Amino acid sequence: MSKPRVLVARRIFPEVMARLGEHFECVANDADAVFSPAELSQRLAGCWGVLTTGSERIDDALLQANPQLRAVCNMAVGYNNIDVAACRAHDVVCTNTPDVLTETTADFGFALLLATARRITEAEAYLRAGRWDRWSVDMMIGPDVHGSTLGVLGMGRIGQAIAKRGAHGFGMDVIYHNRSRLDAPTESACKARYVSKDQLLMQADHLMIVVPYSPSAHHAIGGAELAQMKPTATLINIARGGVVDDAALAQALQTGVIAAAGLDVFEGEPQVHPELLNCRNVVLTPHIASASRATRLAMATLAADNLVALATTQQALTPVPEGLTGWAA
Ligand code: DGY
Repeated sequence: MSKPRVLVARRIFPEVMARLGEHFECVANDADAVFSPAELSQRLAGCWGVLTTGSERIDDALLQANPQLRAVCNMAVGYNNIDVAACRAHDVVCTNTPDVLTETTADFGFALLLATARRITEAEAYLRAGRWDRWSVDMMIGPDVHGSTLGVLGMGRIGQAIAKRGAHGFGMDVIYHNRSRLDAPTESACKARYVSKDQLLMQADHLMIVVPYSPSAHHAIGGAELAQMKPTATLINIARGGVVDDAALAQALQTGVIAAAGLDVFEGEPQVHPELLNCRNVVLTPHIASASRATRLAMATLAADNLVALATTQQALTPVPEGLTGWAA
């Protein structure tokens, strides 16, 4: 019997391709091109499944053009690139890669917080530009991280891992806001207190955004929310572009509404709002929070394992949770 055909939409690890090859006829993308919607739809011709990353948009038009498609396995914990409701309507199973990236992503969130608050990239640029000619008492001074108040918006797995780093490693007072309050044992393990969104914005010295993107989270942090924050505050976004209004953030950074920001994700990435590029007080990274080798391999392996499980047992290992849409506007 011939093997089902699977498109692997981006270049991934050879060992994961080999695993997929045991079960599927694989269509690879060795050039690692980012396909346009039309190209993606064409390449899916005859495919039973697809291994996607956050770069591929799976929508109703694509599903209509490919009625044979049954499985969309995303190599990411987020799935705002996928119209999950349309997939359900077309009888297509969607999976994501939770858990395997939690600690690596939390490490990165903390690295971005430290770099932003302690002005590390700004200081390095100053030094490399040959501007450092003497030590001085107020050169590159900024706020402390240890002992300050860490606000976490979105207290899922990654939010909890960040809260633990802050509370246990840096002696921070951790407050959080989430759609639903955590149970008492989880709150106590994270040493985190639940507060309203308004209190979070007003009290945090450092605000970490870890909320998944959904239409209801669009611009959850805009001009009005930034105005509620302390003028000394830093904001870190490792969630998704679109949760923060980047234009409003650039203006807030330029006018001193908040002190600094660290951003790993952007609206319309890989484009970055030009006004953010003009800000001295922002640390910018190209969506690399989960980019340790071990974690990226674990993510690719889990996405591949989901395809294999669906083909062999009709059961996904990590299906996108029921009731969530995760669709980017
Ligand atoms: C994720 O897993 O959602 C990361 O942002 C990588 O895309």
